[in-house]
Amino acid sequence: MRIVRSIPELRVLLKTLRKQGSRVGFVPTMGYLHEGHASLIQHCRARCDSVIASIFVNPTQFGPDEDFERYPHDLDHDQALCLKHGVTMLLIPEATELYTTGFSTFIDPGPMGQILCGSYRPGHFRGVATIVAKLLNIVQPDLAFFGQKDLQQAAIVRRMVWDLNMPVELVVAPTIRESDGLAMSSRNSYLSIRDRIRALCISRALLATANAFQKGARSASELVNTAKQLLVDLDELQYCELVDALTMDPIEGEVKRLAGLCVAGKIGKTRLIDNVLLSESADPTRLLSLVAIPD
Ligand code: PAF
Repeated sequence: MRIVRSIPELRVLLKTLRKQGSRVGFVPTMGYLHEGHASLIQHCRARCDSVIASIFVNPTQFGPDEDFERYPHDLDHDQALCLKHGVTMLLIPEATELYTTGFSTFIDPGPMGQILCGSYRPGHFRGVATIVAKLLNIVQPDLAFFGQKDLQQAAIVRRMVWDLNMPVELVVAPTIRESDGLAMSSRNSYLSIRDRIRALCISRALLATANAFQKGARSASELVNTAKQLLVDLDELQYCELVDALTMDPIEGEVKRLAGLCVAGKIGKTRLIDNVLLSESADPTRLLSLVAIPD
């Protein structure tokens, strides 16, 4: 595995890969990698000849009172995980290279960036869309991989790729959970043992809702109430909403299309998000992917 610290160096290496006819896959991350990231790398390896991963804690997607300064990191562990899972090149750029003096161009994801997490984290998705666009421009992968856990992020990136004619296939891979159901997240490391147990009410609520759906429940309010009744251990429930999993539009009445029950809440100061897809399809996550636009 090659560690690459500058964009010009990466471009030279990528040129060689492309000359060799390599199909390039990309897994962007903010580091402090866990089995969820490992799964994205594995999905990437299964479909691509070369796996490019990146570690960059993107300052523009954090609000002023958020955890940018204390975002967890462990570069040795991350490098070992990437090596173990067959990453070809690991890009670890400096913030000064990505955001040069005078940087002033951002991507506005529109209304989709202002609802759900966007209403609690103003500017977050503007930062995400901007850095993802920059990284896609730098790496120019054939395929890029994102986790279903960040369902709204995946929807915003998919919309951006489509709207801006970016020649990349977007792949969304299922959420990876701890054995007790907690969705894997770098931020889980903030939780004390007691808080971690309380956090399990989220996955329990999602499971109960999925079970109700399997048994035939289709009423949006009924499904949302099933989840809400179990979200009792959160210190703050920010939202529990049923949305179209591709557009993030709220679903009212009956569920007739691919839906996501999305939850965000706080345990102490730690903000957690999770979701479950409600669909009759055996592999609903696959429906979230976007095949490249011919241009
Ligand atoms: O999901 C993440 O880890 C980040 O939002 C991403 C996509 C790497 C952009 O900084």
